[in-house]
Amino acid sequence: MAKYIIEGGRELYGSLTVRGAKNSVLTLLAASILTPETVILNDCPDISDVAVMLQILRKLGCKVSRRDSSIEIDSSGLHSYKIACDPAKELRSSVFMLGSLLSRIKRARAVYPGGCDIGLRPIDIHLAGLRELGVTIGERHGHIDCDGTHAHAADIVLDLPSVGATENLIMACVFLDGISVLRNCAKEPEIVDLQNFLNAMGAKVRGAGGSVITVEGVKRLHGVEYTPIPDRIVAGTWLIGAAMCGGKLTVENVCPEHISSLLAKLPKSSCKIYPRDGKIAIESKGRPPAVAKTETMYYPGFPTDLQAQMTALQSVSDGTAVIVENIFETRFRSAVELCKMGADITVSGNTAVVRGVESLYGTRVTATDLRGGASLVLAATAAQGRSEIDEIHHIDRGYEDLSVILPSVGVKITREG
Ligand code: UD1
Repeated sequence: MAKYIIEGGRELYGSLTVRGAKNSVLTLLAASILTPETVILNDCPDISDVAVMLQILRKLGCKVSRRDSSIEIDSSGLHSYKIACDPAKELRSSVFMLGSLLSRIKRARAVYPGGCDIGLRPIDIHLAGLRELGVTIGERHGHIDCDGTHAHAADIVLDLPSVGATENLIMACVFLDGISVLRNCAKEPEIVDLQNFLNAMGAKVRGAGGSVITVEGVKRLHGVEYTPIPDRIVAGTWLIGAAMCGGKLTVENVCPEHISSLLAKLPKSSCKIYPRDGKIAIESKGRPPAVAKTETMYYPGFPTDLQAQMTALQSVSDGTAVIVENIFETRFRSAVELCKMGADITVSGNTAVVRGVESLYGTRVTATDLRGGASLVLAATAAQGRSEIDEIHHIDRGYEDLSVILPSVGVKITREG
């Protein structure tokens, strides 16, 4: 099993460039089969979630090739409606293939999807929306069988503003005659990115970024070359790291407005932040004061995907912080690992009370999920002494090899296994 070994007590100096957003790239890969023409996605991160998605596409009959950070997809040979079981079980985004496969070939079969173990992750909103579009769904032996032969445009209200369901339903609607209306949609920047991507292929999607999205059916889509938005969660991870470890870091290829909820929470007295021209520079000195309360919310609220990193920052802040997780139930598992490093955190239900300590100490910890794993990398970099982080396959899902990326900003990190 691979692990990271980190010698802590380091400040961060230099610059890190962020690649395209994982959560955009995965969705755009699912959407790429909406045309038999070639699609090229630029600036794709080299992470295992993307590799798994490419495997799913190959098993459906697509030709997929990767040159540096660009991925080319040719789905003209798509011959299967069955989303392969093994890779799909690992990856929750595979469920987004339901919408795009139904649009392309009117049938789709998926297994119940995987992804991080961060609580119950139902797909009832996806399935209810598809049913309202006239898709017949059979659920048997862990499979979801969808038949879209009689699919039609509809006016749908989502129970919750689910990111995945919003994206899935947009993709399911692109070829339906008439205008479909989706209400109570998620407003995340990745949904705007999907709209821009589809419209660049000839679709007529309007309203993404707001709660009502309309999709006017078109006859076909054409190939496109597209660069997804930068990864706001990776950018946020490095900014939190700088706030925690001190130093002077520039994060390049960022949309500051996509992480305004984080920028508002970074402590002004210990951090100076300069957002400019797609970059954010941060200068951080001294122990940060605790942020009294952070609550995760749907966009534009504080992202659940930065909650674990924020918990790590608060663990070394001066004072007591309260963190409330409103999106996923069991997303405090990495707090237990932080406590092994000397953090003082009490979790009760969806709330963590973090009493900041002077400093953490290095020890052996285990990544329990993707973002929790990233929070341990930050904690180990700030901590005194040596840490070993096991089970880093979770971190590989969303971050390129950190033993290659982070030494350039002064982190002493190696990978073993
Ligand atoms: C996406 C992101 C993930 C992020 C999450 C919330 C991708 C690949 N993943 O996940 O990184 O943490 O948004 O910002 O883009 N829900 C239901 N029924 C459903 C669907 C969702 O009850 O059918 C609930 C979930 O349990 C959760 C909430 O809705 O409590 C939000 O989930 P959702 O927005 O769907 O997250 P994902 O799309 O899975």
